[in-house]
Amino acid sequence: MNLQVKSFEEYQQAYQLSIDHPEVFWANIAEHFTWKKKWDRVLDWNFSEPQIEWFGGAKLNITENCLDRHLENNGDDIAIIWESNDPDEASRNISYRELHQQVCTFSNVLKQNGAKKGDRICLYMPMIPELEVALLACARIGAIHSVVFGGFSAQSISDRIQDAQCNIVVTADGSFRGNKEICLKNIMDEALISCPSVERVIVVERSKSAISMEKGRDVFYDQEMSRMESLGLTDFAAEPMDAEDPLFILYTSGSTGKPKGVVHTCGGYMVFATYTFQNIFQYKKGQIYFCTADIGWITGHTYIVYGPLASGATSLMFEGIPTFPDAGRFWDIVEKFKVNILYTAPTAIRSLMAFGLDFVKNKDLSSLQALGSVGEPINEEAWNWYNEHIGKKNCPIVDTWWQTETGGIMISPLAHLTPTKPCYATLPLPGIQPILVDEKGEEIVGNGVSGNLCIKFPWPGMIRTTYGDHERCRTTYFATYENLYFTGDGCLRDEDGYYRITGRVDDVMNISGHRIGTAEVENAINMHSGVIESAVVAYPHDIKGQGIYAYVIMDNATHDPSQIKKDISATVTKIIGAIARPDKIQIVSGLPKTRSGKIMRRILRKIAEGDVSNLGDTSTLLDPAVVEKIKDERI
Ligand code: PRX
Repeated sequence: MNLQVKSFEEYQQAYQLSIDHPEVFWANIAEHFTWKKKWDRVLDWNFSEPQIEWFGGAKLNITENCLDRHLENNGDDIAIIWESNDPDEASRNISYRELHQQVCTFSNVLKQNGAKKGDRICLYMPMIPELEVALLACARIGAIHSVVFGGFSAQSISDRIQDAQCNIVVTADGSFRGNKEICLKNIMDEALISCPSVERVIVVERSKSAISMEKGRDVFYDQEMSRMESLGLTDFAAEPMDAEDPLFILYTSGSTGKPKGVVHTCGGYMVFATYTFQNIFQYKKGQIYFCTADIGWITGHTYIVYGPLASGATSLMFEGIPTFPDAGRFWDIVEKFKVNILYTAPTAIRSLMAFGLDFVKNKDLSSLQALGSVGEPINEEAWNWYNEHIGKKNCPIVDTWWQTETGGIMISPLAHLTPTKPCYATLPLPGIQPILVDEKGEEIVGNGVSGNLCIKFPWPGMIRTTYGDHERCRTTYFATYENLYFTGDGCLRDEDGYYRITGRVDDVMNISGHRIGTAEVENAINMHSGVIESAVVAYPHDIKGQGIYAYVIMDNATHDPSQIKKDISATVTKIIGAIARPDKIQIVSGLPKTRSGKIMRRILRKIAEGDVSNLGDTSTLLDPAVVEKIKDERI
């Protein structure tokens, strides 16, 4: 299946068609996939409820597109190259045929362990092939997977399992991250104390560390796979799914409350993931493609698993971290496997940049043909370093803007076709209609302007609902501006009509490319028994892009300030996970509040940024003196 435009002119034509006749455009793309039954209608929609239906009436199973369709002619092609955390452990090549076989066998494991179509299954796993197998097996039997990133705490897992009412969990004994081991099973056991819906836990043995196995609930992955083989259960007819049936839930942070479960569907998501993968990276058969994300995030779902596999690509999956055993690991991997396309995050680039060129200079990176960036705005210095030292000024950089909610990339150059500009996501993909609006929702027309980024027409990969709470989906994304999907991002459109994303305009932070809500961190900090109140803001951080700055009011008891900071960090790690740990904690006696009790974050943000000379109007504050004190004691 080749869905690619082959020149910039073809992109422009495709774009025009997608605006003039969106249904014709997407139907043409969808024709290339394997459907059990074609659609009755391409699109039904309104943004006010919202109610969005792509390929209504169609039946399919995404795994037939990712696996079965490749078997006849390309079954021996490599689907996954797996590279261990440990550079001395052998890598693994898994062909499409082998992957199909494993997915079918594990589909039987799931069924035999009580899974049914529509069930929610939580995956909390290391970056090992069994994670992809489990993910695809869920999709094959029609269960809805909910992957929880391996860095989240027991509390976060438990919140997510309870929200989705999962009945099955797939996890591992432990996961290797550099020279650390994270005991996933122990964390999961703690989470499951408050998750009565879970009836079965399937455990992959990866680290071989001691774990407890609860009788009647916990089983081993390998033993179950062997049991299926001995029963001859190694084939599995893919469950026919409606195009609009949910494929997965992925939790993401918002500006208020607990993370919400973004729901993506089988048909539209598949079409969008595959179309964007093929066009943005201009993947050619036989190329080795390496996306460094974790499957616990949307980038891993769409651009390690579904997009590449539906395209018959070879997708490299890396278990470890960029700095182990040293800061040359990515480049060792590129050299070892002759990687052609590398897709990573600005935070990784900045952290490797900081280690200096010694880790790059003797590596053979000549196989690289295209580079990608995702997750946050890429700063010019990182862009230039990536371009010069990794791409050797010979590889286009595709700066891909998108979100968990969009399912796939929305604004990005197409590698080799779109003329790029440092730090610009450039132009929308065909089918994507971005619009900039002012605070009142008035469209800002023309070029050389900036505003809040919205999307005015549906696309197949878009969020359909937030699990169990459709109203939250409506209020978060579709209620700010009438008839528009609001992204939460600020954006500028330059004189050439190129888009540059400038960052969030709401209370969502972007820490090392991970989304974390300020409210979520404040709630976690407030769990500490000595904390009266807290306010959290983001500030610019050299490596992480943004860091977390917490202002905390403590009770009257005597506290050792350095101990209290450690304890608050430990509390946040326990409640959310280490990724949400504040970088700076300032103990304060009061917070700047308006007379109605609202915290003036704008002021706190400025202080955290170190921009204290002009804090703007503070006259509406209940107690302006508090600001002076915070300023003086700033860290
Ligand atoms: O602020 C934007 C930023 O990341 C947010 C989405 O985060 P998440 O749902 O976790 O998905 C990350 C991976 C797709 C966006 O609202 N963001 C993502 N990509 C870019 C970006 N900001 C600037 N440039 C990008 N290329």
